[in-house]
Amino acid sequence: MGAYKDSVLFGTLLLCFFSGTFADSPCAARKIAKKSVVCVCNSTYCDRITKEPLTAGQYVVYKSSESGLRFNKTKANLQPVSDSGSGYTLLLHPQTTFQTVEGFGGAVTDAAGINWKNLSASAQEALINSYFSDYGLQYNMIRVPIGGTDFSTHPYAYNELPVNDAQLSNYSLTYEDFTYKIPMIRSAMQAGSTPIHVIATTWSPPPWMKSNHAYTGHSRLKPEYYQTYADYHLKFLEKYTAEGIPIWAITTTNEPTSGLVGFINSINNLGWTSGSMGSWIVNNLGPTIRNSTFKYIKIITGDDQRLTLPYWVNLLIAEHPKALDYIDGIGVHYYTDFLTPAAVLSEVGKSYPDKFIIATEACEGTMLFEKHHVDLGSWIRAKKYLIDIIDDFNHGVVGWIDWNLCLNVQGGPTYISNFADSPIIVFPEKDAFVKQPMFYAMGHFSKFVPRGSQRISVTQKVGCRHSVWNVAFITPKGTVVVVLYNDGKAIKVTIQLGGNQAVVEMEANSVATVEIMSN
Ligand SMILES: *[C@@H]1O[C@H](CO)[C@@H](O)[C@H](O)[C@H]1NC(C)=O
Ligand SMILES: *[C@@H]1O[C@H](CO)[C@@H](O)[C@H](O)[C@H]1NC(C)=O
Ligand SMILES: *[C@@H]1O[C@H](CO)[C@@H](O)[C@H](O)[C@H]1NC(C)=O
Ligand SMILES: *[C@@H]1O[C@H](CO)[C@@H](O)[C@H](O)[C@H]1NC(C)=O
Ligand SMILES: *[C@@H]1O[C@H](CO)[C@@H](O)[C@H](O)[C@H]1NC(C)=O
Repeated sequence: MGAYKDSVLFGTLLLCFFSGTFADSPCAARKIAKKSVVCVCNSTYCDRITKEPLTAGQYVVYKSSESGLRFNKTKANLQPVSDSGSGYTLLLHPQTTFQTVEGFGGAVTDAAGINWKNLSASAQEALINSYFSDYGLQYNMIRVPIGGTDFSTHPYAYNELPVNDAQLSNYSLTYEDFTYKIPMIRSAMQAGSTPIHVIATTWSPPPWMKSNHAYTGHSRLKPEYYQTYADYHLKFLEKYTAEGIPIWAITTTNEPTSGLVGFINSINNLGWTSGSMGSWIVNNLGPTIRNSTFKYIKIITGDDQRLTLPYWVNLLIAEHPKALDYIDGIGVHYYTDFLTPAAVLSEVGKSYPDKFIIATEACEGTMLFEKHHVDLGSWIRAKKYLIDIIDDFNHGVVGWIDWNLCLNVQGGPTYISNFADSPIIVFPEKDAFVKQPMFYAMGHFSKFVPRGSQRISVTQKVGCRHSVWNVAFITPKGTVVVVLYNDGKAIKVTIQLGGNQAVVEMEANSVATVEIMSN
């Protein structure tokens, strides 16, 4: 213990002596009319936030709000529980634990890489540090497409030529991998202090493997290429590992049901019925991966809307029970969450208790009816993220991965004009980028809930007119972290832990992360 304290002290002295750059710096806020603020970063300035160290009996509250707070910190001492406190009371039960947290992150798409590369080297560094460093959001997960997606400048896959090449004799990475994706992931790996778990996903294989000979539209994998498509994944693992990027997991194709109804969307896809997917996992993908040097890689199926989960995954397993020998987890996407209560996640979780559920993709602004794909300063979008993440974790999800890490102000590039919003919007002509409210929404979890944390039970005392959204965790260091979202008017929240309590004053439309060290 003594040695640990000395090294912490020594580290602090060194940092202060040499640079002092680890101090916090505030958001360079720009108010957007009728909206919240965005925080502006450029090659010489970007806001930074460090976690406040705690000693026994202390807690720190970090607040962000529609009114413009961004990780506003206050430290205080726990007080003995008293009944005099009015307002709303939550009781934490750290002995009752649920799922273990895997992490938080975003996707390194071509679009993200193109926008990032459009900044100067020092602004690029600021963007990566904003997400991955200890004075940023401390993201520890990345999703990377295997080949192209709708957020590319053109459709592509590996080994497009020669056609009908079942041996994949011409499989090589592309310009986009070498110019955008690999450099961006490497940079993230260097910025972070914990290993980044990378999840790789195919949208569409080369058209020659598909029934419709195209990247988009209604499609199936041709039966003669089932093994080839498994090998297609193995080759990607080899190529990225050779570039110094280990892959933690693969998913079994992005949104497999989109390709079943391909006529309503023009996104690169591959359609899979649950039965054919089950067969491919059991006969091709599973044995190929588990018999390879990459046998420990996680296999995540689903990777589709919450709506499809109970039907598609249950059917897959009912028809091919052996798939359970190969599947490690189930991926869920965000876009239909307003149609499907999160309770289906718990239901699926109960059916397969040794499989994890992870949120693999989310973004705002893609809906056709939305006027602004990019909505600068939108607090509503931050709130949607916050509530969705809280709800997902309260129903067993172990991780939450956002879509494009950054986009331009139009919400692209996307070759099919499927423009979307992103937590970071890049302005290359100004060599600057802005952090949207959604950025801080992600950070209220990713920065304070490290990998290995476990969700704990929270109950509430009655007697208050409105409640706050909440979720709580115990971290590997033994601190308790609570994330609260207050959707209504100002409220005082009392958090009881054992015989002590913390008090959090929350303004309207605000989020608070509270880290508590009780002993
Ligand atoms: C970068 O941002 C800071 C803080 O907002 C500002 O003072 C500075 O002038 C900006 N630098 C450039 C090159 O725009
Ligand atoms: C935190 O917020 C309070 C108001 O709630 C404000 O007085 C204080 O200046 C803020 N601190 C920082 C560092 O922004
Ligand atoms: C191999 O792929 C490249 C594109 O990556 C293509 O230019 C070349 O023609 C292909 N070779 C054969 C033999 O098809
Ligand atoms: C490995 O391959 C062999 C034959 O190729 C097969 O019998 C075995 O089931 C495979 N192992 C796994 C773990 O799938
Ligand atoms: C990159 O920046 C230049 C201006 O500096 C701009 O013309 C171009 O459109 C940008 N590319 C993207 C994809 O935003």
